[in-house]
Order: sequence, then C-alpha cells, then structure tokens
Amino acid sequence: MTLTPHFAPFGLRITAGPLELVPVTDDVIPELVELALEGIHPPDTMPFQEPWSIAPRRELGFNMAQYYWQQRADFGPGEWSLNFGVRFEGELVGCQDLRATKFRVTRTAESGSWLAMKHQGRGIGTRMRQAICAFGFDELGATELTSGAFVDNPASLAVSRKVGYRTNGTERRKRRTGELAHLQHLAISEQDLVRGEPITVEGAGALRSLLLLDDD
Ligand SMILES: CC(C)(COP(=O)(O)OP(=O)(O)OC[C@H]1O[C@@H](n2cnc3c(N)ncnc32)[C@H](O)[C@@H]1OP(=O)(O)O)[C@@H](O)C(=O)NCCC(=O)NCCS
Repeated sequence: MTLTPHFAPFGLRITAGPLELVPVTDDVIPELVELALEGIHPPDTMPFQEPWSIAPRRELGFNMAQYYWQQRADFGPGEWSLNFGVRFEGELVGCQDLRATKFRVTRTAESGSWLAMKHQGRGIGTRMRQAICAFGFDELGATELTSGAFVDNPASLAVSRKVGYRTNGTERRKRRTGELAHLQHLAISEQDLVRGEPITVEGAGALRSLLLLDDD
C-alpha cells in the first residue's frame, strides 16, 4: 500500500526528455540531503531568501526533513507547496518547487529551485523551470507564474530571462545577519513562455481534484 491514493502530490510525475520531476517522498529526502551537503553555492554567496543552506552540517538533514514534512502538513486548496526532486538522465540533481496561496482566486504560483553545484551550468535549471511553468499553465490553469532572485544571482536571472519572464520590481530584503540585499521579482504569462521539450504529466487529475480546481 502507498499514500498516493490519499495524498495526490505523491502521485505526480512530470517528464520532459531526460528531465524528470518526482515528488519528494520520504525515500528521496536523504538523497536530497546528501546532495545539499555536497554544496549548492560558494560559501560567500547566498541565493536563498531563507539562508537554510548554511546551517551546520549536523543540522541540515534534520531541517530539510522537517521542512518537507511541514509542507505536507500544511497542504490544501488555500495554501500549497509542491516539492519535486529533479532527476536528469536518472540521477538526482536538485529540487524544483511551486507554491501558492489562495490559488483558486489569484491563479498565481511562485517557483523556487536549486541544483547541486556539480550539476549547474549545463542547462538543467532552464529545462526544469520550463517544465514547471508548462505544468503550472497547462495542468493547473495558472494565469501568471512568479519567481524571485537576488540581483547578485546571474544564473537564476539568466534562466528567468531565457524562459520569458519579465521583471516585476525589486524589494529590499534582509538576507544573512545584518545584510541588505535586493530581490528582483519576476513574472511570466503563458503566452510569453519559451517552452522546452514537451512535458508528460502523471497524476494531475487527482491533484486538481484535491485543490478543488475542477470545481471552478
Ligand atoms: C539558478 C540555477 C537553478 C540555474 O540552473 P543552471 O542549470 O545552473 O542554469 P542553466 O545552465 O540552465 O543556465 C544558466 C544561465 O546563466 C548564465 N550564467 C551563469 N552564471 C552567470 C554569470 N556569472 N553571469 C552571467 N550569466 C551567468 C549561463 O550563461 C546560462 O545562460 P546561457 O545558457 O544563456 O549561457 C542553479 O545555478 C542553482 O541551483 N544555483 C544555486 C541555487 C540558486 O541560485 N537557486 C535559485 C534561487 S533564486
């Protein structure tokens, strides 16, 4: 027996050529922890709005497991976060998330992602963003998708530009202790999406039903 019939996010699978987005089930969490411990960014940079990646090594796995369990506990039509492990040619390389609040009204969801450093710079980040955008527009009926990157994160900003996002204002944020950083907001509509390889999706019907999207 599995939880998939009861918890639709566990039944999702998005494939696009060699790329596969799989749900972060419990068996995937330790693999992701190992990947994160190998390094996501140089120690002197911080791409994340919440600087989770610089936790002491002995705490990172605990924090990551608790984070994923929290996302599941809070999952529902009013607020949800879909967390995917990213496999490229079968190998786990990173994470792609999509989260929303009051999606039935706003039709807007925000993506976030990371790849282990050894897998960066090979076009995988672009492919996974194209895949999650296609999923959001085609399967969930999003009107707009958003992303955010600090202005000193050229790789993420380049991915957004290549995929078709427009800039949507900046925000002054506290990043690490005592540090001011400028966050660039980005947004994309379906007609602007520069699509990659076509996606194949399993499990979207059960997810739409759980999120009450078929009722609208
Ligand atoms: C952001 C991230 C997901 C992008 O994935 P990726 O696989 O490295 O990205 P891609 O290879 O698809 O594309 C990166 C683009 O950025 C460009 N780029 C990378 N570093 C750059 C730099 N210093 N200056 C200018 N452009 C840069 C690359 O040239 C490439 O564009 P191109 O294909 O036109 O040449 C990945 O780098 C990552 O995980 N970084 C650390 C975590 C992170 O920043 N997460 C996002 C938080 S907002």
